[in-house]
Amino acid sequence: MPDLDTEKRLVKKALEARGQSYSPYSHFRVGAALLTASGNIYTGCNIENASYGAGICAERTAAVKAVSSGDAEFAAIAVAGFPNNAADEERDLAFPCGICRQFLNEFACAGMPVYIARAEDDYYSTTLDDLLPHSFGPNDLIK
Ligand code: THU
Repeated sequence: MPDLDTEKRLVKKALEARGQSYSPYSHFRVGAALLTASGNIYTGCNIENASYGAGICAERTAAVKAVSSGDAEFAAIAVAGFPNNAADEERDLAFPCGICRQFLNEFACAGMPVYIARAEDDYYSTTLDDLLPHSFGPNDLIK
């Protein structure tokens, strides 16, 4: 379980990563910051494509960076998503989509925290278990 400083660092990095979002179609910018069990932080943003279905979410961008770096045990993630130019009071919490929940579940530590941020000092804490109850994962394939 990350301490409060680490939690806040993740939220800050998710908001910063949001700045790299390539989202000319939805104008919905998302950033993520993923903490691995080894203590590294991988950031990601959503990257859209003219062939719409080829786009990737911020959470999975961070996840593939981590796993492809050999860091495949996820300890916590922060996500920040809201439209371009949304004023603070207009920002809704952007929960991870279903595909990202499933993708994260593959590599998640037990009770992995998820922080969903509107701003540095305004975020909601939950867990992947709460977001993906009765999940299907690697253990289900072991006989
Ligand atoms: N998006 C994410 O990056 N993460 C999510 O969990 C939900 C949606 C992105 C995908 C797309 O680029 C934009 O937000 C609008 O759906």
